[in-house]
Amino acid sequence: MGPVTISRRFDFSASHRYYRDDWSEEENRRVFGLCALPNGHGHNYTLEVAVSGEPDPDTGMVINLVDLKSAVEGVLVDFDHKHLNLDTPWFTDRQPTTENLAAVLWDRIAHALSGATLSRLRLYEAEDLYVDYFGASA
Ligand code: NI
Repeated sequence: MGPVTISRRFDFSASHRYYRDDWSEEENRRVFGLCALPNGHGHNYTLEVAVSGEPDPDTGMVINLVDLKSAVEGVLVDFDHKHLNLDTPWFTDRQPTTENLAAVLWDRIAHALSGATLSRLRLYEAEDLYVDYFGASA
């Protein structure tokens, strides 16, 4: 049997603001639009975590789903109900866009899933907007 990819969905909420201190107010509003408003705004994110591999012949599983759930939830607790700019350390030097958030989540989740092969993160900022990320080397 060849490799199989299994995915699980997680939900979390966070707020953010897109803004560069080294740009004028006008430039920030021109590039980031309403996302540059001073107090930020929130999203209900959905994250799909995909893990690939050969199913274990004894269990039939690519990864134990209890382990997957606890590993990802252990990462998401640092993001859920946080203001990404103000309450987390990962966006001091980059905008908390869905693109950058997916890359930050990748590093944390890949570390938490040591031993399993993280193959894709799909991060929905809204039902009609999502990012796929496959890691820095893909
Ligand atoms: Ni937003």
